[in-house]
Amino acid sequence: MKAKMTLAREFKIGEIDRRIYGSFIEHLGRAVYGGIYEPDHITADEDGFRGDVIELVKELNVPVVRYPGGNFVSGYNWEDGVGPVDKRPNRLDLAWGTTEPNTFGTNEFMKWCQKANTDCMMAVNLGTRGADEARNLVEYMNHKGNSAWADLRKSHGYNDPWGVKLWCLGNEMDGAWQMGAKTAVDYGKLANEASKMMKWTDGSIETVLCGSSSRNSPTFGEWEAQSLDIAYDSIDYVSLHQYYENRAGDTPSFLARTLELEEFIYSVICVCDYIKAKKRSKKTINLSFDEWNVWYHSDNAPYERWSYSPPRLEDIYNFEDALLVGSMLITLLRHCDRIKIACLAQLVNVIAPIFTKTGGGVFKQTIFYPFEHLSNFGRGVALNPIITCEKYDCKEFTDVPYVEAIATYDEENESLVIFAVNKSADEQQELTVNLMDFDGYKPAEFISMDGHDKNDVNSFESDFVKPHANNLPEIDGAELNVVLKPFSWNVIKLKKF
Ligand code: AHR
Repeated sequence: MKAKMTLAREFKIGEIDRRIYGSFIEHLGRAVYGGIYEPDHITADEDGFRGDVIELVKELNVPVVRYPGGNFVSGYNWEDGVGPVDKRPNRLDLAWGTTEPNTFGTNEFMKWCQKANTDCMMAVNLGTRGADEARNLVEYMNHKGNSAWADLRKSHGYNDPWGVKLWCLGNEMDGAWQMGAKTAVDYGKLANEASKMMKWTDGSIETVLCGSSSRNSPTFGEWEAQSLDIAYDSIDYVSLHQYYENRAGDTPSFLARTLELEEFIYSVICVCDYIKAKKRSKKTINLSFDEWNVWYHSDNAPYERWSYSPPRLEDIYNFEDALLVGSMLITLLRHCDRIKIACLAQLVNVIAPIFTKTGGGVFKQTIFYPFEHLSNFGRGVALNPIITCEKYDCKEFTDVPYVEAIATYDEENESLVIFAVNKSADEQQELTVNLMDFDGYKPAEFISMDGHDKNDVNSFESDFVKPHANNLPEIDGAELNVVLKPFSWNVIKLKKF
């Protein structure tokens, strides 16, 4: 097949906020215990943090990590997780049916963030608790001292405030599975009051209102409109969550899900702007896509109820998942003018790019690589490429472009990068890129992941699903010619010479 792409500086979508490459750690399964924290591990440091995991988190270059949940946060008493460890209680976690020992809590997470070169995006419990506990946590974490909660932090050995800037107002409050689930109006009122009080405590923070738990939620759209109508003036972002699955084994439809994702993002932007119009407001609400990924492989995996950190949601990702994760990231970047934060859910062991053995090694899942590429090379502004390519029809979609792509342009470092997926299982794409006004730019590196069966996975024994370098594509005047192999993830880096 032949495909064409045109790129120009004027095709700017927006500046890329680095926080679009965020991730998520929940007290769930082995994300914390046996994941980022394992004091007996051979690579553990003096704080009990696994060094092998921190190295991989640094490779992923994750700028922000959402914590401590997820569904977990809706029953969490943050006070249980601070102060002397031997005084911290065991609690039943009703979200995941396990026992939470609280040996790892807020201050431990903040220390881990420092060591992993990332920032914390903190979530407060608006399920079983309310505005008072939320503002107390802001005071504990961000106030310098001479107040009860800040002084409590100091007495716990943390003299300086942590200065956490980004706060989630609960989690998926529309879902029946959520502890303390609410109607949109009840949630809007609570989130509004909590956000006001949290910002009165620390005027420098930003807050995220919970949007629907997914596009399939029965109240999607109406939920966003009603809660935003109440809380518009006191919040900064609305959240989106979406996971995809391929239980039917229908790969063409699975890889086409980004068309649906596109619709989802567009709808939420429209609802935000509808409320803006209704209020004649000058303020624009941006989007925080704070849970996204593929999630289904670990369906129905048994676990022992009320045990400590049993393996949960341990999806092992295959090659087609990597293609969809790459395509999802491209879609997020296509909306980087409005999506300022996004979190790959999650980071370690639980539906995650990094997978550990408790007491053993670690490996990179297939989805690690597209994320690593975008996070490290997708800098500056996103450019909307004009793409002409063949399209396909499948069970759930029509007119699906075979090529999904985005380009990022970092003017300061004179770097232009094209990220592209070929969704055709059996045909390569002979792609011609018209570089128009990128005079002097030439290919510097061409990395791809290809040649795999869609079901190929990595494991502790084998890391064979990984990127490899290719010969540099040819350039003829302003035209770059590159072949995108069947079922492939491609990164073409150009530099000005
Ligand atoms: O990431 C796993 C779970 O998915 C989170 O706890 C919840 O917010 C979502 O439903």
